[in-house]
Amino acid sequence: MSSESTIGIIMNGVSGRMGYRQHLVRSILAIRDAGGVALSDGRRVQVKPILVGRHEDKLREIAARHDIADWTTSLDAALADPQWDVYADFLVTEARVPAITKAIAAGKAVYTEKPTAENFEDALELARLAKEAGVKNGVVHDKLYLPGLRKLKRLIDDGFFGRILSVRGEFGYWVFPGDGVPAQRPSWNYRAEDGGGIVLDMFPHWNYVLENLFGRVETVYAQTATHLPTRWDERGQAYTATADDAAYAIFGLAGGVIAEFNSSWDVRVNRDELLELQVDGTEGSAVAGLFGCKVQHRSATPRPTWNPDVPDGHDYAADWHEVPITQEFENGFKVQWEEFLRHVAEDAPNRYDFLAGARGVLLAEKGLESAATGARVELPEVTV
Ligand SMILES: NC(=O)c1ccc[n+]([C@@H]2O[C@H](COP(=O)([O-])OP(=O)(O)OC[C@H]3O[C@@H](n4cnc5c(N)ncnc54)[C@H](O)[C@@H]3O)[C@@H](O)[C@H]2O)c1
Repeated sequence: MSSESTIGIIMNGVSGRMGYRQHLVRSILAIRDAGGVALSDGRRVQVKPILVGRHEDKLREIAARHDIADWTTSLDAALADPQWDVYADFLVTEARVPAITKAIAAGKAVYTEKPTAENFEDALELARLAKEAGVKNGVVHDKLYLPGLRKLKRLIDDGFFGRILSVRGEFGYWVFPGDGVPAQRPSWNYRAEDGGGIVLDMFPHWNYVLENLFGRVETVYAQTATHLPTRWDERGQAYTATADDAAYAIFGLAGGVIAEFNSSWDVRVNRDELLELQVDGTEGSAVAGLFGCKVQHRSATPRPTWNPDVPDGHDYAADWHEVPITQEFENGFKVQWEEFLRHVAEDAPNRYDFLAGARGVLLAEKGLESAATGARVELPEVTV
């Protein structure tokens, strides 16, 4: 650390969706406003950000809006300055590897958005470089901190499910193509040549959710599609969508759980939340979303019988019970930032490192391989 009481953080990509809202405003500025992060001995460590980006005007404006003293268009200058301890990366995926490689060479601790790279080889190389250089490293695992998934984790730890049989993930919503109603995601997401695609975007999330809750992903079978071949970009120009915008996948997990995930930007929502995971076990089932989590125990399970001749009047939705909120849930990005800052300040544990990030990229890569070949693909265990 540059000083006993302050961690300097280089924040690269704060003009973007994730960089601005989740990482700068909801995490680092919220931590700054709270007087820093509390350490295990009761001391507090304050955070001090420097904004990095390509456009001076945007940086100046964001810095002024949030009372931030430091900003620069030179990443090299920020990396060379010892007052900055951490390099944080929220760039478009394709710009990430070169920036993080420089940060590791400069000896900074590194915290980054996922996916850590566009391919597994690069992702593993980052893990290797960070290990060799002895720099601390972390990757966003935000979905694990969602209230709905935290409740689900507690059910698993409590043994609610008995033996878990299967997991069904439904993720997606209608992303407008951009003609008329503006698209609600950046256009690079739909261009493979710019690091886009729903597999590369979402399979890293599914990997850490599955391995932390249910077991390591051992196999993947996936079919992908580019359902909408033409979209309109931020300037209203039509472009060819070259990346997958939907993926239908089955993951085989260590221990025998089967997980099936639909991920789509071309689906209209008929669910309670944009992400839902249904978990079925011998003793009970649950459906977890971002916020909510409802359960049905074996003892309260109805006994449906199939009869196409009689309309089914049973209210299946009424057979589920909402898990009550028993603790306060803070923004997940902020909670994980605090954990990483404690890791930097006092070597607190950090499981969500570049190797975990590389496993997520591997799942995306093997998912795309499965889609291209039509085969079920095995995932090797990953080591540096
Ligand atoms: N954890 C999550 O839930 C989640 C959600 C969405 C996106 N992401 C990830 O966050 C990252 C950013 O996504 P976003 O949706 O915020 O994108 P965005 O397009 O809104 O922002 C990207 C940022 O990168 C900068 N940038 C673009 N091209 C660059 C280049 N060539 N060199 C340097 N900087 C460049 C932009 O100026 C902007 O600041 C992606 O890697 C994405 O996969 C994570």
